[in-house]
Amino acid sequence: MSKVRTEIGNDFCPQSLFLYGTKQEDGSPHFGLFNWFSYFHSADGFGVMACIGEEKLTKDLIRKNGVFSANLVTEKLLPLADYYGCTYGRTAADKMKRLPTVERGEVLDVPTIAESPVSYELEVKKEIPMGGGSDIFLCIIRNVTRDERLLDKTVAFSERLRLAAPVLVAGEETYSAIDGKYLGRWGEPMKTLGDR
Ligand SMILES: Cc1cc2nc3c(=O)[nH]c(=O)nc-3n(C[C@H](O)[C@H](O)[C@H](O)COP(=O)(O)O)c2cc1C
Repeated sequence: MSKVRTEIGNDFCPQSLFLYGTKQEDGSPHFGLFNWFSYFHSADGFGVMACIGEEKLTKDLIRKNGVFSANLVTEKLLPLADYYGCTYGRTAADKMKRLPTVERGEVLDVPTIAESPVSYELEVKKEIPMGGGSDIFLCIIRNVTRDERLLDKTVAFSERLRLAAPVLVAGEETYSAIDGKYLGRWGEPMKTLGDR
C-alpha cells in the first residue's frame, strides 16, 4: 500500500447518523441531524460525546434542558433526517411541520423516535468549548431502547445489523448504507418528501 499525505479530515472513517431530540419551551419536540458522535466510559457509566458546531436551536435546547435523545437514523428515516439536517431551526419556525412518531423517553423527559431502532436518553455532564463555535457535550447514557428484533441472538449479528439498516456518513458529504451502497448527497434524500 502506498499512502499519500492529504488534507486533515475523517473521510473513509464511517460514522453513524443520529437525530437529537429535544423539548421546546412549549413542550413540543424538536429534531436535528448529527454525526460527530462517539462513546466513552466513566465512573458514572457509559457515555457519549457529541460535538455541536455553530449556534443552533438544538444546542440552545440541549443547554436549556440538560437532556436530549439520540436516535439512530435508518435508511427509511433518511429523507426526514436529511431534512432535519438541512433546515436551520432558529430561522425555520415551521421546521417541525414534519414529524416521525414521537414517544417520551422511558427514563428522561426527552422526545424519542418510534421508527428508530436504537434510542439513547442522554444527560449532559459537561460542556467543553472548543473555540470557533464548536462545543463538545459529554453525556451519560441514562437509558437505551432497541427494536426487540435486534435482541434475538439466534439470528446472526450481521443479519440483525442489516435489519437495523443504519445510515453512515463516510465522507465527501454523501450518505452510505452499511454495505457501502450510495444513498445520495446531503440535501438530496429530503427531496422525496415533497411539499408536505
Ligand atoms: C449529514 C449531516 C450531519 C451533520 N452532523 C452535524 C454534527 O455532527 N454537528 C453539528 O453541529 N451539526 C451537524 N449537522 C448540521 C445540523 O444538522 C444543522 O445545523 C441543523 O440545522 C441542526 O438543526 P437545528 O438548526 O434545528 O438545531 C449535520 C448535517 C448533516 C446534513
